[in-house]
Amino acid sequence: MSAAPEAKYTEETVLWIKHHTPKLITFAITRPESYRFSAGQFSRLGLREGNGFIWRAYSVMSAEYADTLEYFAVLVENGPMSARLAALQSGDTVLLDKNATGFLLPGRFPDGKDLVMLCTGSGIAPFLSILEQPEIWQRFDSLVLAHSVSYADELIFTRRIAALQTHPLVGGYFGKLTFLPVLTRERTAGALNQRLPELLASGALAAAAGRPFTPQNTRFMICGNPAMVKDTFQTLFDMGFSMHRNRIPGQIMMENGF
Ligand SMILES: Cc1cc2nc3c(=O)[nH]c(=O)nc-3n(C[C@H](O)[C@H](O)[C@H](O)COP(=O)(O)OP(=O)(O)OC[C@H]3O[C@@H](n4cnc5c(N)ncnc54)[C@H](O)[C@@H]3O)c2cc1C
Ligand SMILES: NC(=O)c1ccc[n+]([C@@H]2O[C@H](COP(=O)([O-])OP(=O)(O)OC[C@H]3O[C@@H](n4cnc5c(N)ncnc54)[C@H](OP(=O)(O)O)[C@@H]3O)[C@@H](O)[C@H]2O)c1
Repeated sequence: MSAAPEAKYTEETVLWIKHHTPKLITFAITRPESYRFSAGQFSRLGLREGNGFIWRAYSVMSAEYADTLEYFAVLVENGPMSARLAALQSGDTVLLDKNATGFLLPGRFPDGKDLVMLCTGSGIAPFLSILEQPEIWQRFDSLVLAHSVSYADELIFTRRIAALQTHPLVGGYFGKLTFLPVLTRERTAGALNQRLPELLASGALAAAAGRPFTPQNTRFMICGNPAMVKDTFQTLFDMGFSMHRNRIPGQIMMENGF
């Protein structure tokens, strides 16, 4: 059954799906030529369920200019969409709402020199898309990506991030990026070991980033667990940073990742 011409969605095909751990998957779907989004935005993906649909938001992980649309999903226990995604196979149909949305867009910052991207779990997805846009590397002197997960096997993007070094569009700027993995429930060499608000408040994150965080130079983007977003915003606010609004410029932009 194909979508009616007036439908708010298109029907796309799953091209591949990878199960990285029992609860972490990445997958790609076909991209209609008419589908436009800005890096940092999310799609609404749907599946048919009985006579109805199930719709959920997923940040686009691939680049604005990519031929396909890639996503990263954390499968949650007893989640209706998670159960369906766990069984997804290449060749399956996924519904794609025609409009991408979201305001986690680094271009909204009118100034700033250092961009610090703070995320937990699936909140890394919009930043992976943003990191494939050359404008962002040209615009900022330095980029920091801090990704907090509980356990080391959830750090599934280390190679993808390292591969940016040879990316045809952004590879030349790779030296500007500091990737900071954060593990909150186990320790390994090379990862920080506290939650993001604590790392900010103690100065450990700035030390690991190799530069001070200042309202004049630093701009923060936050995405992930809503409690983390709230606690991180409050910590930054206490440190003298404020929310960015288009009419009242500040240093913090954020989005709840679920
Ligand atoms: C703006 C936006 C962007 C999103 N982008 C992504 C994305 O890129 N990848 C992704 O996996 N999910 C993303 N989500 C969450 C996603 O829409 C679904 O909620 C999620 O896949 C679970 O769906 P569900 O039906 O299985 O469970 P739901 O009934 O939707 O959620 C059940 C519970 O699971 C927990 N939960 C939901 N999503 C997550 C998550 N991602 N990580 C940890 N715990 C979670 C929450 O406690 C929630 O109350 C996004 C949500 C929003 C609002
Ligand atoms: N039953 C459990 O013990 C358990 C544990 C984890 C997740 N889950 C469930 O598993 C699913 C997927 O979870 P997930 O691990 O991908 O996502 P998550 O629970 O959001 O955890 C991702 C990262 O966010 C951190 N975090 C959570 N709340 C925070 C806060 N207020 N401030 C700063 N950092 C915070 C976590 O630290 P911490 O590791 O310190 O929480 C972890 O490093 C969810 O449904 C979740 O509820 C269950």
